[in-house]
Amino acid sequence: MKKEIMDLGYEIVRVSDGRVTFKGDISALCRANIFLRTTERIMLCVGRFNAYSFDDLFEGTKALPWEELLPRDAKFWVSKATTKNSKLFSSSDIQSIVKKAIVERLKQKYGVSWFDESGSEYPLRVFIHKDEVSITLDTTGESLHKRGYRQLTAKAPISETLAAALIMLTPWNKNRILVDPFCGSGTFPIEAAMIGANIAPGMNREFTAENWKNIVDKKCWYQAISEAQDMITEDIDMDIQGYDIDGDVVRIARANAREAGVDHLIHFQQRPVSELRHPKKYGFIITNPPYGERLEEKSALPELYRQIGEAYARLDAWSCYLITSYTDTERYMGRKADKNRKIYNGMIQAYFYQFLGPKPPRPAVTASQARV
Ligand SMILES: C[S@@+](CC[C@H](N)C(=O)[O-])C[C@H]1O[C@@H](n2cnc3c(N)ncnc32)[C@H](O)[C@@H]1O
Repeated sequence: MKKEIMDLGYEIVRVSDGRVTFKGDISALCRANIFLRTTERIMLCVGRFNAYSFDDLFEGTKALPWEELLPRDAKFWVSKATTKNSKLFSSSDIQSIVKKAIVERLKQKYGVSWFDESGSEYPLRVFIHKDEVSITLDTTGESLHKRGYRQLTAKAPISETLAAALIMLTPWNKNRILVDPFCGSGTFPIEAAMIGANIAPGMNREFTAENWKNIVDKKCWYQAISEAQDMITEDIDMDIQGYDIDGDVVRIARANAREAGVDHLIHFQQRPVSELRHPKKYGFIITNPPYGERLEEKSALPELYRQIGEAYARLDAWSCYLITSYTDTERYMGRKADKNRKIYNGMIQAYFYQFLGPKPPRPAVTASQARV
C-alpha cells in the first residue's frame, strides 16, 4: 500500500495499526480513491488529539474547525469508532459524544439550535490508539474493494483489494504468464489484467466525497478520471488464464471480466486442476484453492492438494503462489514453500505460500542494440 501511495507522488507521514497517513492537496483525495488498488478506504483526517476521558474527547472534537467542512444542511454521523490500548473503549459512547461535540460547535458557528440534516452525507470515523484520537471523514463510502465489475460471485470469493495486493507481492508483471486454476469469479485474473493494462480500479464507481461540493471541486474528479483514461494501455497482449472445475462459475468469471473491460485479455475455461498444463516456461500460478469450510469438503483436501502439487511439478520453471487456510498444504503438495506469510482473508487466518521458480534469462542483446 505504501509503495502505491508513493508511486502516486505523495509523502507518507506515518504508518500505524494498518493505516497509512499521507500528505496531499484536495486532488489527492480523488486520485487516491480512483487509483489505489490495495486500500479499503480513504479518510480525510480532520484532527488528532489525546483523550483520557469523555470530557477530553468532547472538548478535543469541539475545538476542530467543523464549520469549514460541514455545511449547514450536512447529514453527519460517526459510522464507526474503534479503540485499541486506550482508556476510552465504548464505541457507542464515543460515537454519540463526538456527534454531540460537533453539533455544539456548529450551533455556535451557524447561530442555530437545530439542524435538519437534509443535505449530503458526511460519515465520520474515529480511531483511538494509545489514547490518541484521530477524527476522520470517510471520503469513500462503499469500500474500495467494490470496483463495480463483480456483479456476480462464486462461493468464497477473495476480495479485490486483497487479490491485487497479493499479485503485487509477487514478481509477476504483464509480460509473464499468469494462471489461476481455481479462478471462481475471476478475481485474480481480472485484477492482474487491470494491473497489466493500467486500468485504475476506481474508474467505474462512485465515492461519497463526490457530493462534497464545498470541499472538492468537481473539476478535481474530472481531472483524475481523465488522467486514469489517458493511462490505459489499449494495445496490449497478455497471457492470463482462469480455470475452474465448475462451468457456471467460469461463466460468472467471464461476465465479470467483460464488466471490467478486460475479457479480451483473459482466457477462461472449465477445467479441473488435475488437467492443468502449459507448454511455456517461467509462468506464475496465483490462486486461492478451496480450503474446506465444511467437514465433508475437508476430507477431499489431501487429494486436491496432491493434484495441485502434481500439476505444479509438471510445469517447467514456474512459480506458484497460494493463499489458503489449509495448514497441510505443503505436506500434500509434497514441497516446502520457499516463503510463507500469514494473511487474513476476511476473518479467516490464511497463509500465502510462495514456491519460487527461477527467473527467465535476460533476452540477448543484439549487436545493433548494443551499439545504441
Ligand atoms: C475459494 S474458491 C476461489 C474463489 C476465487 N478466488 C474468487 O475470487 O471468486 C475455489 C474455487 O475452486 C473451484 N474448484 C474446486 N475444486 C476444483 C478442482 N478440482 N479443479 C479446479 N477448480 C476447482 C471451485 O469451483 C471454486 O470456484
